[in-house]
Amino acid sequence: MLKGKRILIGVTGGIAAYKIPYLVRLFKKEGAEVKVVATPYALKFVTPLTLSVVSENPVLTEFFDSKDGTWNSHVELGLWADVIIIAPLTANTMAKMVTGITDNLLLATVLSARCDVFTVPAMDMDMYKHKVTTQNVKKLKELGYKVIEPASGELASGLNGIGRMQEPEIIFEKVKRHLLSKNDFAGKKVLVTAGPTHEPIDPVRFIGNNSSGLMGIEIAKAFADRGAEVDLVLGPTHLTVEHPEINVHKVNTADEMFKECDKIKDKYDIAVLSAAVADFTPKKKAGSKIKKEEGIDSLELESTKDILAHLGKNKKENQFLTGFALETDNELENAKSKLKRKNLDLIVLNSLKDKGAGFGVNTNVVTFIDKNGNIDKFPVMPKSEVASNLVNKIKNLIQ
Ligand code: CTP
Repeated sequence: MLKGKRILIGVTGGIAAYKIPYLVRLFKKEGAEVKVVATPYALKFVTPLTLSVVSENPVLTEFFDSKDGTWNSHVELGLWADVIIIAPLTANTMAKMVTGITDNLLLATVLSARCDVFTVPAMDMDMYKHKVTTQNVKKLKELGYKVIEPASGELASGLNGIGRMQEPEIIFEKVKRHLLSKNDFAGKKVLVTAGPTHEPIDPVRFIGNNSSGLMGIEIAKAFADRGAEVDLVLGPTHLTVEHPEINVHKVNTADEMFKECDKIKDKYDIAVLSAAVADFTPKKKAGSKIKKEEGIDSLELESTKDILAHLGKNKKENQFLTGFALETDNELENAKSKLKRKNLDLIVLNSLKDKGAGFGVNTNVVTFIDKNGNIDKFPVMPKSEVASNLVNKIKNLIQ
């Protein structure tokens, strides 16, 4: 998704430098090209070998290579980058940046750059709260640098407070969003449901399904990457979601998912309900563990509330509602009838018969059916691509 994008990561001498190889990996995994420029002190905290292996580029520190005397041109580096990220940014480098000092390759590169520069300050709490740092952060912003403010938490000094470098995932998502910066969903509120639900039989047993939630998580990310504010109502899954624009509401049961969605039902512009919600739940949930000797002769079930139908019933004129249909027989007909019955604008059909579709795989095979009767059938593709196609389809339909 970031294929062809060139990211220059500047590392300065803070303890959080040990997290930078992971940040590099996140960009590489998305197909970006990454180069690292480090200050000499940064290399006390992270080895150049690690950084060069993960970035697949030599790590640059000095204006001149000490072995063969090659000149590392800061001007070329500055012009090469589509974006520069300085993480962690120490108080020292920050102070130099706001005064234009260029006593190392990184500072000279930043001064030569024409692209956007993200800075990620990280330092001890008292240093960060110091008046001079507050002024320097303000100056950074005035000079047009983007600042990813530090988080609060445990610091290397043993103190607890503001100063921790934001996690690589957060930095990555912010920069990625900026790079993609189509932002064509800015100002839109999107509701997504994802994952399975667990319907308890007793405190240790439940009725569930094999959904991982990956499809819905990719949909939430695809909208958030394009500027939307996303509420993701997520059933129990081992997957985690780290995205500054995704508000995750964790739930376990169909009833909890219903209640969360009901709270949001009047606020969304676009909803995509991809969760594999249990259709039935045990009528009685035992308060304590059912002992084996007691046995269970039968389990009486009752229907759960249909969240999608509920949102369809309460849909306002300017709201756009998307459902999923997982079918095994008469796929197209069943999906079309679901679209009508639940008052949807679009339905995503995935058939369990298709190889590479459904639960537990990273790919999916889908057909979009919109309320005007248009049918778009896609071949097998990664769920992230399905998500991106779905967002494009919705974009066309709401225009
Ligand atoms: N869905 C929901 N709430 C439920 C059950 C399903 O919101 N209690 C949503 C799913 O998230 C999906 C859509 O309904 O978007 C279709 O789910 P599916 O299980 O395929 O269809 P059902 O309506 O349950 O009908 P059937 O089982 O008869 O196919």
